[in-house]
Amino acid sequence: MPTKIFAHRGASKYAPENTMAAFSLAYQQGADGIETDVHLTKDHTPVLMHDERINRTTNGTGYIKNYMFDQLQQLDAGSWFSSEFTGLRVVSLDEFLEWIHDKPLYLNIELKNNKIDYNNLESIVYDRVSHYRLLHRTTLSTFNPIGIERIKHLDRNISTALLTSKRVKNLASAANDLGANAVHIKYRLLNRLLIDQCHHEDMAVRVYTVNRPRRMLHCFAMGCDAIFTDIPETAIHFRNQYNNQ
Ligand code: G3P
Ligand code: MG
Repeated sequence: MPTKIFAHRGASKYAPENTMAAFSLAYQQGADGIETDVHLTKDHTPVLMHDERINRTTNGTGYIKNYMFDQLQQLDAGSWFSSEFTGLRVVSLDEFLEWIHDKPLYLNIELKNNKIDYNNLESIVYDRVSHYRLLHRTTLSTFNPIGIERIKHLDRNISTALLTSKRVKNLASAANDLGANAVHIKYRLLNRLLIDQCHHEDMAVRVYTVNRPRRMLHCFAMGCDAIFTDIPETAIHFRNQYNNQ
């Protein structure tokens, strides 16, 4: 199976991350899937943003969890990136699911419950994905091992992935013991033994964040199941080149 290309926070090199502009561009560029990050507002609305705070990617300040969804909607989530994107709004999970449901894209929704353990984040996200009938092409990932257990408790069939940026002893068996279906690892953790161990347990290996062509080619050659990249168009170009050599 060729390595799948996931757009990391959308095509986030060319448009502000986790906005509809970045997601649309990823689709236009031919990505196989989209990775995005989810938090909860004060009124328990799941919204797509990477950081716990809105400071870096909007014109506001403070924590997402202290804002009502309507208040977040007043903010500008585009002009920090470039004036071309002025006026873009913070995206709710529902808006994203509504947009993606008729497109042939995989979804990787990363639950940002490792720094703030949002109440019921797992079940709220699961319900929304289920509502849009997208469970079969969605992977829920998290850096929080307890999050994996909570998701599997809701539905043992939904695909889950344990994220890690650190070297973990026996990662493949640790992830497998939690019931995860994949590991999502930082590029520097990639090695042949890990791939073999994960594949032996029937777990996928997906790698982030792969933006350099040399690294993309290494992931393809190693048989990674997917890469996360900010530049999907480039990754597709190099994958075509790799497959035709
Ligand atoms: O899900 C892959 C990657 O997005 C994990 O790290 O910090 O970019 O959300 P981060
Ligand atoms: Mg992420």
